[in-house]
Amino acid sequence: MIPLVDLKREYREIKEEIDLAIGRVLERGWFILGEELVAFEREFGKYIGTKHVIGVNSGSDALYLAVKALGIGKGDEVITVSHTFISTVDAITRNGARPVFVDIDPETYTMDVSQLENAITERTKAIIPVHIYGHPADMAPIMEIANDYGLYVIEDASQAHGAEYKGKKVGSIGHVSCFSFYPTKNLGAYGDAGAIATNDDELADKLRMMRNYGSPRKYYHEFVGVNSRLDEIQAAVLRVKLKYLDKWNQRRRKIAQVYKELLRDTDVITPIEKEWAKHVYHLYVIQHGKRDELEKCLLSKGIHVQIHYPVPVHLQPAYTKLGFNVKLPITERVSQRILSIPMSPWLSEEEVEYVAEAIRGCLVAT
Ligand SMILES: Cc1ncc(COP(=O)(O)O)c(C=O)c1O
Repeated sequence: MIPLVDLKREYREIKEEIDLAIGRVLERGWFILGEELVAFEREFGKYIGTKHVIGVNSGSDALYLAVKALGIGKGDEVITVSHTFISTVDAITRNGARPVFVDIDPETYTMDVSQLENAITERTKAIIPVHIYGHPADMAPIMEIANDYGLYVIEDASQAHGAEYKGKKVGSIGHVSCFSFYPTKNLGAYGDAGAIATNDDELADKLRMMRNYGSPRKYYHEFVGVNSRLDEIQAAVLRVKLKYLDKWNQRRRKIAQVYKELLRDTDVITPIEKEWAKHVYHLYVIQHGKRDELEKCLLSKGIHVQIHYPVPVHLQPAYTKLGFNVKLPITERVSQRILSIPMSPWLSEEEVEYVAEAIRGCLVAT
């Protein structure tokens, strides 16, 4: 079986450093809000180029807390996309606000910025673009519109650690940005973890308290917060892996190039990279009209493929009660055509060739 991603291979590459890092935390005997977290927050902030990073329990919590910290709630609207993992939208609804969906660009799968202004009402408070699959959303027009209308921009950078928009790291462009360190992400912990990044001092202070029961110091509580801290073991793991992120992203980019070349003269649509973008290929997503047949055929050849995502968020049963009366033709069309094929820095050249060859074979057979 060729896996979509194989984290055992990752561990083997950095085993010595990881074991030492985890051992260091165990020897220290301090597991929550300690020096590993402080160091990771500083190092990750330096990497993406923001003044503050606040480590939390997951990407979902990062989004939920970012929306909450901006004071967005009941009666407010937040514009986002439906072609995303459900957490992006949950962050809005769990705060009592209403998501307003715009469609996506058919080439990059990110927010179609030409639809943004039409979606703005007097209740709109924020925009959440998603850098899906590792390709940045078109941030300049998003920031321009947000500034014109006095809206916040919350970047969902959960799939795009190290990706760049016009030479700037994603996560450093909006007012606040959110990252997931779910284990399979380009920068992943060995458990759940996430972070929020911002240049806003006041917002950072508030978020630091929010993740820790609204507490500025032990047993004093300014408001009702939550328990959402990035623990010391995960912070130590992330510090090791952060050193490898650029190298691993480079390998992903090389594999993407090989896939593109090997699938060149087929009717499979391969991912594009806009001239203003540095794609980090969290997922390598192809498109084909006979997606379901292709999926079945590849699985039968021992190639692990998946669909990210088969049902757009506005059509999920979880959200039928909100009655989204919205047509998102591109989002709905691509959800029928997309397929994620194996992608990780640990795929061998032979495996990449085998996958591409298998796709060619399946296309002839379907
Ligand atoms: C785009 C996007 N947003 C949010 C999340 C949620 O992150 P987590 O799984 O860490 O809660 C994920 C990943 O799972 C994601 O891919």
